[in-house]
Amino acid sequence: MCSTLVYYSCSEEYTRFVGAALAGYLSGGDIILLQGELGAGKTTLIQGICKALEVRERVTSSSFVLLRLLNGRMPVYHFDLYRLSSVDELDSIGYEEFLFSNGISLIEWPEKIIAFAGDEWLSISLEYVDDSPDTRRITFLPQGERFVHIVEELETTTGGAAPGCNVPPVLE
Ligand SMILES: Nc1ncnc2c1ncn2[C@@H]1O[C@H](COP(=O)(O)OP(=O)(O)OP(=O)(O)O)[C@@H](O)[C@H]1O
Ligand SMILES: [Mg+2]
Repeated sequence: MCSTLVYYSCSEEYTRFVGAALAGYLSGGDIILLQGELGAGKTTLIQGICKALEVRERVTSSSFVLLRLLNGRMPVYHFDLYRLSSVDELDSIGYEEFLFSNGISLIEWPEKIIAFAGDEWLSISLEYVDDSPDTRRITFLPQGERFVHIVEELETTTGGAAPGCNVPPVLE
């Protein structure tokens, strides 16, 4: 059981659009893992999710804050674990209380805590493509039935709709 959805985003606006489209399916307790190199577009996609969830605060990419608590239609927890040195550091902010609560957790650089994320999460990886500075391949990899279903729905609703981008999403 594995549906992988791939987008080719040709602009930061399109990456935000992908995030906003996803947001429509999210509910409290969901865990979204965002993977990709520095500058790949993780925060940009999160901005799209947050805007659609009516978060008013500015969502930024500063990696000095491990966890930001945001408020939209529901609580949103923006983790940026780039500078995380040990899991103890996470324990000290009581991260589990947020991760397993009724808010949505959006986690940049999740590699170090992936083992704690349980068995239901959505991984989104962003990669640079060729030499094009504005193109990213965005791959959705769902874990657990709920996210498999969400990814299939997302493919249906966004299929072919690609403002500013010529390549529609592909469900593999
Ligand atoms: N198609 C695209 N999608 C997303 N961002 C893009 C795209 N094309 C160019 N960009 C640029 O890439 C940068 C992405 O920055 P962003 O902060 O979202 O990356 P990040 O993955 O969160 O990086 P970090 O690991 O430093 O937190 C922005 O400057 C944005 O304008
Ligand atoms: Mg970032």
